[in-house]
Amino acid sequence: MKNTGTLSVKNVSKKFCVHDNEIHVLDNINLAVKAGEFISIIGLSGCGKTTLLRLIVGLESDYEGDILLDGRKLNGPSLDRGIVFQDHRLFPWLTVEKNVGLGIVGKSETEKKEIISSHIELVGLKGFEKSYPYQLSGGMSQRAAIARSLVNQPEILLLDEPLGALDALTRMYMHQELERIWKKENITMIMVTHDVEEALYLSDKIVVMSARPGKLQKIIPVPLARPRDRASVEFAEMKEKVLEEFMLHTEHNFTYTI
Ligand SMILES: Nc1ncnc2c1ncn2[C@@H]1O[C@H](COP(=O)(O)OP(=O)(O)OP(=O)(O)O)[C@@H](O)[C@H]1O
Ligand SMILES: [Mg+2]
Repeated sequence: MKNTGTLSVKNVSKKFCVHDNEIHVLDNINLAVKAGEFISIIGLSGCGKTTLLRLIVGLESDYEGDILLDGRKLNGPSLDRGIVFQDHRLFPWLTVEKNVGLGIVGKSETEKKEIISSHIELVGLKGFEKSYPYQLSGGMSQRAAIARSLVNQPEILLLDEPLGALDALTRMYMHQELERIWKKENITMIMVTHDVEEALYLSDKIVVMSARPGKLQKIIPVPLARPRDRASVEFAEMKEKVLEEFMLHTEHNFTYTI
C-alpha cells in the first residue's frame, strides 16, 4: 500500500457572498482519507460537493479550516492534485495526444512523448492519438480527460461526476475501467456522484452529505469484495443502507424501489 496521498479535511466551512447575501455552503466538514482509498461523495444538488472538491484542488482559497495532503497544509493548486470534471474540457482544436500532454511539467520532449503514450494506453485510447475531440465518443473523451489528469502523477485524483453525461451501459463499462486505472496507478481517488450504484461499485467508503449548508452526515464503509457483483444480495443490501441514510435528512418525499 502506498503511503502518500493521505488527505485530511479539518473543520472546513465555506461561505459565498452573492449580491450582499451570504450563502453558507459547507459547514464544519471533517474527513480523513487514507492513501490509496477510493471515496465517493453523494448528496443533494447544491449541497456543496463541487465546492468541496474545488477547495481540495486549490481553486478556492477563501475558507475556514485546514486541508492537509500528507500532513502539509494546502496552498493553491499544485501538480499533486488532479481533477476531472463532468464535461471533459478537452481543447477542440488539439488532438488527443496534444490535449493529454498539454499540462506536463518539467520533462524533456522524449520523456513527454513516453508519458503521453503510456497514459493514452492506460486509459485504452491507443490508436486515437491523432483524433480530435469531435471524433471521439463521450466515454472516449472522458478517458482522454482522465489521462490528462494523471500525466503529472498526482497523489490524489478528484472526480466531479466524471461519468454523469454517459449512457447507462457505457457508464457500467467505465466503472470497471476506473477501478482498473485506480488499482494500476495506486492513487487516492475522491469522486462526487449522484449514482448510488456507481458509488457502491467503486468505493471503499461513501460519504453522505446533508443538504446545504453541506454537513458530513455519515461515512459508510463498503466492505464488499472486488470486483463487485451488482446482482448480489449483499450489493442490494448495501444499496438500501446508503439510500436510507441519504433519505434520512432530506425534505423531499422520495420513494424508491430496489
Ligand atoms: N463561485 C460561487 N459563487 C457563489 N455561489 C456559489 C459559487 N459556487 C457555488 N456556489 C453556490 O454554492 C452552493 C453549492 O454549489 P456546488 O456547486 O458546490 O453544489 P453541488 O453539491 O456540487 O451541486 P450539484 O450536485 O448540482 O453539482 C450552491 O448554492 C451554489 O449556488
Ligand atoms: Mg456539483
